[in-house]
Amino acid sequence: MAIQWYPGHMHKAKKAITERIKSVDLVIEVLDARLPASSANPLLAKLSSGKPKLKILNKQDLADPERTELWLAEYRSRPDTNVLALDASDRQASSKVIAASRKLVPNRQSLERPLRVLICGIPNVGKSTLINGMLGKKSAKIGNEPGITKAEQRLILADDFWLYDTPGMLWPKIIVEEAGYNLAASGAVGRNALDEETVALELLDYLRRHYLSMLQQRYHADLSLSPHWHDDEWLNWIGQKRGALLSGGRIDYQKAAERVLTDFRDGYIGRITLETPNQWAIWLKKGQQHEAQLKAERLAKKEARKK
Ligand code: G4P
Repeated sequence: MAIQWYPGHMHKAKKAITERIKSVDLVIEVLDARLPASSANPLLAKLSSGKPKLKILNKQDLADPERTELWLAEYRSRPDTNVLALDASDRQASSKVIAASRKLVPNRQSLERPLRVLICGIPNVGKSTLINGMLGKKSAKIGNEPGITKAEQRLILADDFWLYDTPGMLWPKIIVEEAGYNLAASGAVGRNALDEETVALELLDYLRRHYLSMLQQRYHADLSLSPHWHDDEWLNWIGQKRGALLSGGRIDYQKAAERVLTDFRDGYIGRITLETPNQWAIWLKKGQQHEAQLKAERLAKKEARKK
């Protein structure tokens, strides 16, 4: 899918994260619980290797609870990693994050040795909401300090707990095709970067295979006919049901696609997670094989040119 999602400010964000990561004790990555692997930044995985990590599966209120359990188990099995599932309405969210952070790095709890935490997350995962909750009524000391670049903020949650906030950053190339679609469906990439109809069709294809009854219920579809529908038939049906019509009663597919995406993003179809750890492992393998093939082709062309 041709998605242009690496604008200039993301280069700056990457630079800021690369520098800051060297001097922090812990890296918090806020993920979207509906697409934990797709919303995880592979650059961050590389940059933060060897550091303790806290993964936050945010928006769990919108995610499939059974699948959230699978993801929690997956992250818990990783070394130096703790994981929490949260949502914005959880009043305890900030105290849970602070407690989990302290548990991961117990030896930094003093004025001389404050716990220095970098918090990252791609756009729209709910990082600002979470940080605002952590700040509470406290006023934060922000920016314009020596050693703090414009692309980051230092927030003093307590004298012994410093939080470095960086802007949401995506990465230049997405090798897992499904991740591109899932990110687009979740709203993580700007509207200009994607063809909403394609994204909605991919989403409907996944939902009809994994969450058929939710689709049927939400859009009042015939229970015996709809199991045989493909993604385009679903979009057609939803267009009719949700009043996405042009003159003469033809379906306005763009509008129908927008309605499906909004319904998904707002949780109106139900609590849905677009990937499981097993699915992700298969997609990743496929993506890596494809990348390797592209690389081999590029090399072969280069060799041919030399000759
Ligand atoms: P960001 O900093 O990572 O870019 O994300 P931000 O906090 O701005 O949150 C993006 C959107 O996600 C916001 O909705 C926010 O309210 C919503 N959100 C954040 N955390 C959760 C959560 O745990 N559950 C749910 N259901 N929603 C969450 P918005 O529509 O863009 O803005 P608004 O409705 O808050 O005005």
